[in-house]
Amino acid sequence: MDWRTYQKILLPDTPDFHKLDVYEKEGQGYQALRTVLTEEKWSRKAVVDEVKKANIRGRGGAGFNAGLKWSFMPPKQEGVPRYLAVNGDESEPGTCKDRRLFEYNPHTIIEGALIACYAMEMDAAYIYIRGEYADWIDMVQAAVDEAYAKGYAGKNIMGSGQNIDVFVHKGAGAYICGEETSLMESLEGKRPYPRSKPPFPAQVGLWGKPTTINNVETVGHVPHVIRNGADWYLGIGAQTFPGPMLYGISGHVQRPGVYEFPSGMLITDLIYKVAGGIRGGKKLKAVVPGGSSVPILRADMIEGITMDADSLRTVGTFVGTAGMCVLDEDTDIVKFLIRVSQFYDHESCGQCTPCREGTGWFVKMLKRIDSGEGSTRDLDTLLELCDTMEGRTVCALADAAAWPVRNTIIRFREDFEAKIKFKGAYAVA
Ligand SMILES: Cc1cc2nc3c(=O)[nH]c(=O)nc-3n(C[C@H](O)[C@H](O)[C@H](O)COP(=O)(O)O)c2cc1C
Ligand code: SF4
Repeated sequence: MDWRTYQKILLPDTPDFHKLDVYEKEGQGYQALRTVLTEEKWSRKAVVDEVKKANIRGRGGAGFNAGLKWSFMPPKQEGVPRYLAVNGDESEPGTCKDRRLFEYNPHTIIEGALIACYAMEMDAAYIYIRGEYADWIDMVQAAVDEAYAKGYAGKNIMGSGQNIDVFVHKGAGAYICGEETSLMESLEGKRPYPRSKPPFPAQVGLWGKPTTINNVETVGHVPHVIRNGADWYLGIGAQTFPGPMLYGISGHVQRPGVYEFPSGMLITDLIYKVAGGIRGGKKLKAVVPGGSSVPILRADMIEGITMDADSLRTVGTFVGTAGMCVLDEDTDIVKFLIRVSQFYDHESCGQCTPCREGTGWFVKMLKRIDSGEGSTRDLDTLLELCDTMEGRTVCALADAAAWPVRNTIIRFREDFEAKIKFKGAYAVA
């Protein structure tokens, strides 16, 4: 599929698409929900199987097959409620795609959540939205109200006998609230400390009941898969990471923004053709392809690399959230890493020693290098510190903090060494 002739699926250009009547008329809105609730062929298992076959890769960062995750829900026990948590906390630097969905296509999120609840026999969906997104919370609430008024949510949906509630929940204003177990704590009204796993949410989730957590965009893909079939979905973009992709392109490009195209786009096409190239005609220095936590790429690593798991793996990085940060040749990479590390230091919940202490030490040591007081030994100490953090904590925030440090030092070592050698003066172009 040529990206130039691609017809947008998630963010169509139709005016007022966020309104229910337009969504129904122009986007066949709620027809997929009607189909699964009324057509015999759509048993709950058939819906899960179709979503699994489509291989909708989770858009919250880890890229896990959504249908496979749904299949982990245990058999329904009479009288035991079950929940879906739709993760719209969206706080990873460089990531701003869910906000576009809240604004331009909230009904696809609601319809996808309702279909997911039907498939997994759930009683309610909680759409958890980043607290700072005040306006977008109101927009989604307005869409939920419209859906209730039309009988698409709540009691006896479309006369099918199914009862599914949809709640919009204002986030508590911290990056950690987006981590799935922390999100559940926050929904329960507690301080959002991540929980140890196991038990996994499918067994012990919200209020101790079976729960599945999916990203906003992930559930937004579901109505399209039901309407058009898994084979149609598999025909869009990259085979191993199929479907539409919302690329958030930020940094030193002419036209930053959120762009919808098939998955698997060439990084060079995204930077130079979609986003208009580097500002001021400068050269590219680096790209962080999927949100601030994923390993950075040097400019000489991106030729021929596409935005899908297989291609990015060859250069040691991930799709993440497809929030791409582009850095030009003038970027002081040490200062860039300090800024990223300050974020993780600020957002660590402090529960685990390696994360609480390690993120602070990253900032202190990087600042020392930046000021010209560092030594090459500091670089090795920073890498050793990464070893003590990765895979050794309750949640993956420590890994998210360590990956940029490890990979930026390894891939731009000469920039750090120049800071050390020239006593803080920046000497690498
Ligand atoms: C520190 C941290 C923050 C996270 N923030 C988000 C977030 O804002 N939105 C999101 O969808 N997933 C976030 N995740 C990933 C979630 O834990 C979870 O994997 C995801 O919501 C699952 O949805 P998916 O399978 O549809 O991608 C975060 C993970 C970590 C470790
Ligand atoms: S890894 Fe960090 S953010 Fe996650 S639970 Fe431990 S201290 Fe908290």
